[in-house]
Amino acid sequence: MNSKPLLNSDIFIYAANKNSLFYKESLKIIEEKLYTGFFVTDLNLIEIFQVITDGKKTSNPYSTQEALTYIHKLIKIPEVQILKTTPFYEVISNPDKQKELTSLNISRFGIYDYLIADCMRVNQVKKIITFNDKAFLKFNWLEVYRPTKKTISKAKKCKIIPYGHQSIDEKDVAAVCTALRSDWLTTGPKVTEFEKEFANYTGTKYAVAVSSGTAALHAAMFAIDIKPGDEVIVPAITFASTANCVVFQGGTPVFADVDPDTLLIDPVQVEAKITPRTKAIIAVDYAGQPCDYDVLRDIANKHNLTLIADACHALGGSYKGRPIGSLADLNVFSFHPVKPITTGEGGMITTNNPELSERMRIFRNHGITTDYHQREEQGSWFYEMADLGYNYRITDIQCALGLSQLKKLPFWIKRRQEIAKKYDTAFSKLPAIQPLKVKPNVSHAYHLYVICLDLNKLRVSRAEIFTRLRAKGIGVNVHYIPVHLHPFYQKKFKTQSGMCPVAETAYEEIITLPIFPKMSDEDVEKVIDAVKKIVKTSLK
Ligand SMILES: Cc1ncc(COP(=O)(O)O)c(C=O)c1O
Repeated sequence: MNSKPLLNSDIFIYAANKNSLFYKESLKIIEEKLYTGFFVTDLNLIEIFQVITDGKKTSNPYSTQEALTYIHKLIKIPEVQILKTTPFYEVISNPDKQKELTSLNISRFGIYDYLIADCMRVNQVKKIITFNDKAFLKFNWLEVYRPTKKTISKAKKCKIIPYGHQSIDEKDVAAVCTALRSDWLTTGPKVTEFEKEFANYTGTKYAVAVSSGTAALHAAMFAIDIKPGDEVIVPAITFASTANCVVFQGGTPVFADVDPDTLLIDPVQVEAKITPRTKAIIAVDYAGQPCDYDVLRDIANKHNLTLIADACHALGGSYKGRPIGSLADLNVFSFHPVKPITTGEGGMITTNNPELSERMRIFRNHGITTDYHQREEQGSWFYEMADLGYNYRITDIQCALGLSQLKKLPFWIKRRQEIAKKYDTAFSKLPAIQPLKVKPNVSHAYHLYVICLDLNKLRVSRAEIFTRLRAKGIGVNVHYIPVHLHPFYQKKFKTQSGMCPVAETAYEEIITLPIFPKMSDEDVEKVIDAVKKIVKTSLK
């Protein structure tokens, strides 16, 4: 596979005629734009009319298998997925489909185009590469790409480009289906396999899979025995659960301010917050950028503290050549859909410490020392609850998805970095906008792309810019409200504004722009254009 960018929601309609322009241009596009798989429908391959080739009929149509072999020979992309179209007669006999055919003014000859377009709709594949563009333009759920014109049909209704989105392909779907058909829905072999692959990927000895990133943080706090009276230092800018996990165990989160350039926890502020009650530091790799782990490690060692990485944003990144997941004593991940890989909901903790890993395994299973399958194997009914734990188990269904997703992570990180570079370049000369800085020696995983507004140079507020971007279909967001400003913390821990001034000022200025692997270049350009226009018209 090459590392070229992914074409969003891709479909390739192949050409049977090797000498045609369509054939050559299509191959070029695929090789330029794809690095994972693409789709063809079974109709493209075997239907007697060879409906969508380069417009010509062939006398000897391919069988599905022959066509697959042929495509593999042409291009070195392994994942060619064949989508099944609804049979002709089923469409003809379905009154709803009939109605749609009439409303789209589709004649009998156009029905094959309809079958393909409908199949793409069902499978949520949106982009079609076809010479036969006129026939497909009428299907308003498709973006039509004609290789020889290199233009895409005008966008449909203004749809919001979200700030983050999962990438799910047919391989993921197949992996989940296989797990569903297996004997194990939970606590089975897929959980173990996912943990093993994940530990390998992150260069650690142990990985413990749980039901969410929050459960992973909680398990980490339990493993290091945080209890009432203990303090844990956390950054002011993060998602609430980084601090909540300390409270779950009865401990006190102590908020440290962040570096204004990166919004990562500031090691100087960390040291300033250490007291005799401090037990641990949780560093958050905010937006996907690794914290300064060498410096944090020195501080942790000097004060005999456990170093924990909340790496929920940063899977796939690295620090001084060392992978995220291997940098702290316990490293925590989330598999929520917007995260680098997803299992729907899910989480993981990596560590090189066997005792901590064992404690977390017991914790995720009610505090019971053996799981159901271990007891089955031993032919024993006996179990003991050694500690108070929770049901934080993850299913085999989720882990099957996680395994399938993990394979694609390196490509997705590259795509995220590529989008970030486009933004960096576009905004470098734009006044009043400053993307967060990236430190040398890190590979940024770009879970988020965050810009800071220089409000002194603008006539309007952040809220106004936010609203205008949303109105243009850009699904911007703000990450995060400083945690110590949430009413819960103000009430329970007497935190207040002024405690972390850098975080509080940054919070007024930041906006998160869309970034996710399946984002198309056109969408990236749309975001850039919108930001440029809005900023330029809002300058003082
Ligand atoms: C920094 C950080 N920590 C922890 C979490 C919690 O993860 P989950 O949503 O999987 O519980 C998140 C999720 O958004 C996060 O962004």
